[in-house]
Amino acid sequence: MELNPKTPVQPEQNVESNRLATAIPPVGVGTYRTGGYECFNAVSEALEIGYRHVDTAMAYENEAAVGRAIEVSSVDREDVFVTTKIKGYPEFLSRDRMIEAVEGSLQRLGMDRIDLVLIHWWHPDGDMDDVFGALSRLVDAGKVNHIGVSNFSIEQLERAMDAADAPIATNQVQYHPYYHQDDLLSFCRDNDVLLTAYSPLAAGRVAEDDALSAIGNRYGKSAAQVAIRWLVQQDGVVTIPKTVRSDRLRENLDVFDFELTDAEMERVHELEGPLWYRLNTDRGAISRFRSEVGQYVPKRVRDALPL
Ligand SMILES: NC(=O)c1ccc[n+]([C@@H]2O[C@H](COP(=O)([O-])OP(=O)(O)OC[C@H]3O[C@@H](n4cnc5c(N)ncnc54)[C@H](OP(=O)(O)O)[C@@H]3O)[C@@H](O)[C@H]2O)c1
Repeated sequence: MELNPKTPVQPEQNVESNRLATAIPPVGVGTYRTGGYECFNAVSEALEIGYRHVDTAMAYENEAAVGRAIEVSSVDREDVFVTTKIKGYPEFLSRDRMIEAVEGSLQRLGMDRIDLVLIHWWHPDGDMDDVFGALSRLVDAGKVNHIGVSNFSIEQLERAMDAADAPIATNQVQYHPYYHQDDLLSFCRDNDVLLTAYSPLAAGRVAEDDALSAIGNRYGKSAAQVAIRWLVQQDGVVTIPKTVRSDRLRENLDVFDFELTDAEMERVHELEGPLWYRLNTDRGAISRFRSEVGQYVPKRVRDALPL
């Protein structure tokens, strides 16, 4: 792989045991809430800077922009790890519709194979055997390299692992200094499943955090870099910070030349914060719903809940 000389070097792997770790760069670029030229430009620039891992989804409606940016970049397709996700609406969670949905993503991305396909969230009306059977067949057919899940609870993950012939490579979930996933992470580690941390910057909020800034000052790093470093320094964790700004694309990737001490790792861990805590406790309806269907609650469902 030809790297730009200014590229911050990413380690080949950050975990020893996981089957995906050698293939997936620990810091990828997220693309939620960006599309069209903005998305195309951000992904193009990310590849130029040295990112080799891009996260998109059917629901983001930007797969075409992501695919085009990869197609026209000077980086070889096989050097970029591309993840997409299929919506977890009941209408997609059957065998034939799943195959059609993945074919649709392939077409929009303009690719003949996707590195990783995730079920974006689970809906109780879906059929796990059908869905993961279909995904396993797509792996056999060479259209998908790896399969995985997103926003799955431990119980759902266990069922998915039982239903799939191919290994479940990752569970992509919200994980950042203010919102922890200790039990899930431990389950993932025990079962050789990577945890992909989404919203690693708490959707930008960590940038203003005094405790993270104080730690960063010791290394000449920003609060955001400390949050990203804290994630990738954990065994079995990779992450996908999103930005469309070139300075931040560089900043978010430049986390491999310092190491947090055990005490600093613990300090960041202690930041689990009021913001997400409130969201998960005061809004009891969401908590109850989450415990039934997993962690992610799509907006249209959230809006329909009596809060
Ligand atoms: N599976 C799922 O259900 C799910 C859910 C949410 C997200 N995701 C994935 O995870 C990715 C990341 O999560 P996210 O987009 O929710 O949030 P995030 O990466 O935690 O934060 C993104 C926000 O932070 C800003 N930002 C980025 N770098 C920064 C920096 N160095 N300093 C200060 N601000 C910075 C960005 O603004 P600018 O763009 O203006 O820089 C944007 O507003 C998504 O893009 C998506 O690919 C998956």
